[in-house]
Amino acid sequence: MCGIVAYIGQREAYPIVLKGLKRLEYRGYDSAGVALINNGLQVYKKKGKVAELENHVSGKDMRGHIAIGHTRWATHGEPSDRNSHPHVSGNGKLSMIHNGIIENYAQLKQELLNQGHIFKSDTDTEVLIHFIEEIQKSNHCTLEEALRIALKRVVGAYVIVIIDEDNPDTLIAARKGSPLVIGVGKGEHFLASDASPIVEYTKEVVYVNDYEIAIIKADELILKNISNERQTPYIQKLDIELAAIEKGGYDHFMLKEIFEQPQTIFDSLRGRLDAKNGTLTIGGIREHAEMLSKAKRIIIVACGTSWHAGLVAEYMIEELCRIPVEVEYASEFRYRNPVVGPGDVIIAVSQSGETADTLVAIESAKEKGAIILGVCNVVGSSIARLSDAGAYTHAGPEIGVASTKAFTAQLAVLCLIGLKVAIVKGSITKQRFQHLLDELDNIPEKVATVLKLNGRIKEIAAKYKDARDFLYLGRGYNFPVALEGALKLKEISYIHAEGYPAAEMKHGPIALVDENLPVVFVATHDSYYEKVVSNIQEIRARKGKVIAVITEGDQVIPGMADDIIEVPEADELVAPMLSVIPMQLLAYHIGVLKGFDVDKPRNLAKSVTVE
Ligand code: F6R
Repeated sequence: MCGIVAYIGQREAYPIVLKGLKRLEYRGYDSAGVALINNGLQVYKKKGKVAELENHVSGKDMRGHIAIGHTRWATHGEPSDRNSHPHVSGNGKLSMIHNGIIENYAQLKQELLNQGHIFKSDTDTEVLIHFIEEIQKSNHCTLEEALRIALKRVVGAYVIVIIDEDNPDTLIAARKGSPLVIGVGKGEHFLASDASPIVEYTKEVVYVNDYEIAIIKADELILKNISNERQTPYIQKLDIELAAIEKGGYDHFMLKEIFEQPQTIFDSLRGRLDAKNGTLTIGGIREHAEMLSKAKRIIIVACGTSWHAGLVAEYMIEELCRIPVEVEYASEFRYRNPVVGPGDVIIAVSQSGETADTLVAIESAKEKGAIILGVCNVVGSSIARLSDAGAYTHAGPEIGVASTKAFTAQLAVLCLIGLKVAIVKGSITKQRFQHLLDELDNIPEKVATVLKLNGRIKEIAAKYKDARDFLYLGRGYNFPVALEGALKLKEISYIHAEGYPAAEMKHGPIALVDENLPVVFVATHDSYYEKVVSNIQEIRARKGKVIAVITEGDQVIPGMADDIIEVPEADELVAPMLSVIPMQLLAYHIGVLKGFDVDKPRNLAKSVTVE
């Protein structure tokens, strides 16, 4: 949610910042802007995508060795040129980019208005840079000191980076609650919201912690805490390659990421699952497996697609471990003063590891004594670092805004965790354990088989793309898959879609069914199968159009459905990793056929780092 990039060093800064903004555009694309120092402070910004900014600056003198850039997902103030970042102080010397929200900005703004400040935008960011300027002026202090004083008064979440016309050899940055990575090069530094703009220049990075301030010159990085004490930067090696963040011949990142799933699921199982020898090792929870097996209950907190993965995990863990599981929207959990404390285990599921609601939910649960396990994709992310233990999903960078490969990797890892706890607890038989290890082991190959249906799914997409609404139905393990199918379609095609448990449909949504309503049934062969067949009949009787995802060889449903998509047979516990693939492809093709930018759907941002 908002992407920030900055550079300081010997190279031309603007091309690096521009390229970085393009890589971070998935985080928000309401507007983009850059500021650089070249005969004084120059600021250029434009409503719309990064390409609009690029056109806007075409022909201008963009030389300079220090620059900051921002791509915005609007919070305070509508998307417009004037609300775009970077923002500038009243004296025109300081310029700032910001990712996050300053919650007490209204109060600060009023104080500044009383002191005669004039604002050009509606943003909280402009208030903050004026506030810093005012402190610097009234205290006759350095920018660094002014920033420190300001941050002690600021309530909210932020990553900020400031450049100062009077100190063109220094960038100053600070973080609380939003991510900031610093790439360390030879005589140069790169700053960004995530590693994707940095990886092609250096693999050495420092993840800045909350309440840290970084003072960065071309050849020096100083980290301090908010009390002005020096901190030792901890340099880590990035383990992603440039190819992982490029489209690699696909039309869209979303399609590339859907097609990567045989490999990404394999990667999330690799080194953990050894089906041949009947063993399972999850290094990240090794010391916690015993404690987990004794947990009185497990609470899964997540948002969006990760929440759907959590719902599947509820079914898995309850079945395998006989431990009660609750699945909570992180945004609800954090505010309702939940009954949580020592003895509770919280599993936070998050692709980005930066989702603000999930992060704050686990912060408060941790304060109350719960143990936190993180299931995150982004290595070194805030949620991963706050967790007591956990397992990375290893799906690689997910750039498409709609989550696809992260979901199946989450399912794989959550299944491994369930199996591990079950075997430690003794709540699963050896035979069932071995059977599920084999089933998991076969999933990557079966996903590859489902992907061969891409052409057929595109035809189905063409047939239904003009529908006004869609209904997605499933039961048991396939109920969260129905929810995920509906979410994908909404996000990518802007078609209204609802996901429901297939039986619950009788209690209301059935009123929507007529000959114009496509109903997608996730109806693979599982313990609910007969019941789902009855639900299909109920839709047919009301002339609804039935698109059914079924198990290969099903003799019954093809006779009732308008369109079928056959996936390989699999145990119901792992089947969602297969049945979700047609959901992803259907949404993708409908979105593309309708002419939408599926990688950057309107109003969305990849990682929601504000409440
Ligand atoms: C849907 C989607 C979102 C995210 C949600 C949580 O396609 O991408 O619903 O799943 O914002 O994000 P993470 O998993 O990063 O916490």
